[in-house]
Amino acid sequence: MSETVYEIRDLRLSFKDLAHKPIFGPAPEIEVLKGLSFDIAKGDVVGVVGGSGSGKSTLGRAMIRLLEPSAGSIRFQGRDITHLDEESLRPLRRKFQMIFQDPMSSLNPRRTVFAIIAAPLRLHGFDQISNRVETALDMVGLPRDFKLRYPHELSGGQRQRVAVARALVNRPDLLLADEPTGNLDTKTSIEIMALFEEIHAAGNTVIVVTHEEDIAAHAHRIVRLRDGVVSNDDQQRAVKA
Ligand SMILES: Nc1ncnc2c1ncn2[C@@H]1O[C@H](COP(=O)(O)OP(=O)(O)O)[C@@H](O)[C@H]1O
Ligand SMILES: [Mg+2]
Repeated sequence: MSETVYEIRDLRLSFKDLAHKPIFGPAPEIEVLKGLSFDIAKGDVVGVVGGSGSGKSTLGRAMIRLLEPSAGSIRFQGRDITHLDEESLRPLRRKFQMIFQDPMSSLNPRRTVFAIIAAPLRLHGFDQISNRVETALDMVGLPRDFKLRYPHELSGGQRQRVAVARALVNRPDLLLADEPTGNLDTKTSIEIMALFEEIHAAGNTVIVVTHEEDIAAHAHRIVRLRDGVVSNDDQQRAVKA
């Protein structure tokens, strides 16, 4: 049943440590991901959990190839994407969507909710934009007339729903959310996690990067990072609280 979306093998990623670059010679490297291996099956809600600085965001960004690994490999839907160049990545960019912690800074304050959600559709040349925007609003549980609003007219939870709607609108295979509940109160956080559960039920793979254990408890499976390595063994969790 379980088709593999990701196969990650001995993944390593280093940054140049420019603060300690000698006047002559190259900057030393800091290894942030130190040899990670795990798989993700299609349709999972996966929590990537760990303390601050453990490498969660770096791993997330590497998985959607916003960063290029230094060693090891990432296979996505059976294809090795570890070192693909930007041109070869372009068709994949539509399949990956990312949601960030702070929807206020990721949503353009001068655009309506409609314009925000429609932007990726326009970019990828979709038709029936109005219908698709309304369907996306339905999916995230926002009234359709919210499309006329601006981000500052929404609550934090509603803004995060708009960000999710924008991410879902062109039907990605993978939704990666980095600390998506970081600025939300507990009740709203639980609602957003419930929304991810629904998105997953519709056949998508959802990866939630978080340092909050109670948020991670909503995931089906946990990849626990500690100092750049996976510290659990792909524990299969018997669903949610
Ligand atoms: N662009 C970068 N250049 C240098 N070091 C970085 C960069 N991005 C992250 N780091 C370092 O990598 C480590 C892991 O960061 P990050 O992946 O953001 O952790 P987390 O999301 O788990 O808090 C931290 O020590 C951080 O300072
Ligand atoms: Mg982070």
